[in-house]
Amino acid sequence: MSDSFDRMWAELAPIGRNRTTGGYRRYSWEEADAEMRSWFVNSATARGMETATDRNGNIWAWWGTPGPGAVVTGSHLDSVPDGGAYDGPLGIVSAFAAVDELQRCGLSSGTPLAVVAFVEEEGARFGVPCLGTRLLTGAITPDRAAGLTDADGITWARAMENAGLDSTRIGAEPELLTNIAAFVELHIEQGRGLLDAPVGVASAVWPHGRWRMDFSGRADHAGTTRITDRSDPMVPFARCVLAARDAAESTGAVATVGKARVWPNGTNAIPSRVRAWLDARAPDEATLRELTDAVDSAAQRSSTEEGVFHASYLESYTPVVEFASGLRDRVARLVGGAETPVPVLPTGAGHDAGVLAASVPTAMLFVRNPTGVSHAPAESADPADCHAGVAALTEVLADLLTD
Ligand code: GLV
Ligand code: MN
Ligand code: MN
Ligand code: MN
Repeated sequence: MSDSFDRMWAELAPIGRNRTTGGYRRYSWEEADAEMRSWFVNSATARGMETATDRNGNIWAWWGTPGPGAVVTGSHLDSVPDGGAYDGPLGIVSAFAAVDELQRCGLSSGTPLAVVAFVEEEGARFGVPCLGTRLLTGAITPDRAAGLTDADGITWARAMENAGLDSTRIGAEPELLTNIAAFVELHIEQGRGLLDAPVGVASAVWPHGRWRMDFSGRADHAGTTRITDRSDPMVPFARCVLAARDAAESTGAVATVGKARVWPNGTNAIPSRVRAWLDARAPDEATLRELTDAVDSAAQRSSTEEGVFHASYLESYTPVVEFASGLRDRVARLVGGAETPVPVLPTGAGHDAGVLAASVPTAMLFVRNPTGVSHAPAESADPADCHAGVAALTEVLADLLTD
């Protein structure tokens, strides 16, 4: 089992890797993503699994004939810019390694099992995270998804077509979802919540969202324009960043501005325009709203003071997810023991499992990340913990398959 995991891990290691930073760029439909997707299909074929790409670009590898009662596991292959190696691929490689173990043990239930690779989980290229599962479950309209653009103005529809897929049929696939009896996603733990055990079980996903903030002012000379004569969009933007930080500190939420664009982007010119994205998350929805209200007030107040036009748009929102206790407790019982109960923890990271939980019984396993760092090259996992994750997933799948 550990051999097959290690072999697959080594196969993926060079794909999309930045040799300078050690991080990964695996944006949906780009070259590295295409390589990852081919690797997925080849890995499935080598195991005697049939692959099918659904209408939204998610790839399913089936062991057994697709049909009612299916048990599904998997994760995603795309990454954030300069992301870590584990976020996403760990769940897919572990899923194939678990299939190897089930096949080696000769498990032959009549229940179909699928390994799935969901597309655009990070939203790094087109802005909306978990796009593959949002489309699949109907949580986003096909029209809105088709028109999402990347930094070069390429639409989701165009990028899909460029990858050889038909973009005119994207949208909800209830017939696929009704066949799923259980979905289990294994994922690297992405914070500092699981340091004392190799494997944990998810209890909940914090509500989270992304807001785009636009500020328009007036470009002018950096040396000759008196401060009182300026309409500098950078100023209300900066006050928003600080308001988000202050509100996060006082409420227990988290808020990040990790992406911003400035026009015309000159050192000695007052900018004409700033566009930035706020990512905010909180343990509950009321706290999240408190934070975004505080940022909105700061934006309005300081934009008015500065003579800047401001508008903000909700780009994506995922309500709080509490994983159903039945499946969660069953998974926790299988993975832990009476002597050493497995940690059960919430997460501030978003996952396809969180989107799917509204439609199918869903659970998540986390593998320890000793650095506690994620969405960055320092994301890590010990091989022994990865192997423990595969063993836990195998146990869970075997139990679900023989239900
Ligand atoms: C995706 O991984 C997210 O949590 O933003
Ligand atoms: Mn992920
Ligand atoms: Mn991620
Ligand atoms: Mn994620």
